[in-house]
Amino acid sequence: MYNKIRKYVEMNLSIPRLDHSLSTAMICVDLCSRFGLDEDKGRIVGISHDIARELPVDDKRITLLKDGYLVSEEEKLNPVLLHGRFGAEILRNNFKLEDNEVLQAVRWHTAGHPDMGRLGQVLFIADYIEPGRAHITPSFREMIMKLDLNEMTLKILNIQSAYLRDKGYRITESSMLLYDKLSNLEKNNNS
Ligand SMILES: [Fe+2]
Ligand SMILES: [Fe+2]
Repeated sequence: MYNKIRKYVEMNLSIPRLDHSLSTAMICVDLCSRFGLDEDKGRIVGISHDIARELPVDDKRITLLKDGYLVSEEEKLNPVLLHGRFGAEILRNNFKLEDNEVLQAVRWHTAGHPDMGRLGQVLFIADYIEPGRAHITPSFREMIMKLDLNEMTLKILNIQSAYLRDKGYRITESSMLLYDKLSNLEKNNNS
């Protein structure tokens, strides 16, 4: 499956995004091995997560999206937010991939979502810290790697929401719901 998807990605994504996808896959494998998750699935979500990132999106395509979730007003106004959901549809329709863990991880990698699962958290983190990301310093990466999976995710959600607030943008609702879910889990673990 990995090789098939990789070929598709090579043909459909720009070189910088292909490089980003390969690096993300590499970090996903590392994080999966750290946290006891399936490394093969990690490699697959990494290579495929941005599979729909360069796909033109119009209202018709949005209407055809039937993954069981509503399309929010925010997603309609800012369709780039939907590239994970379209990506999951490509995996399902073109590759007959039915693994829900993989589909949910790809579907929700952009802003995060309470349904993304631990594999989704791995992807969310790897997407943010992969070595090609110029905004990440080696010391930040080192610090992140010392945390557990929920702490890592919370840290990145915090940074992203501070950035969005600074720019005057709204924080996506699914990010906030994920933040609440994980911080409640952390609180219960520490009490
Ligand atoms: Fe993405
Ligand atoms: Fe990405």
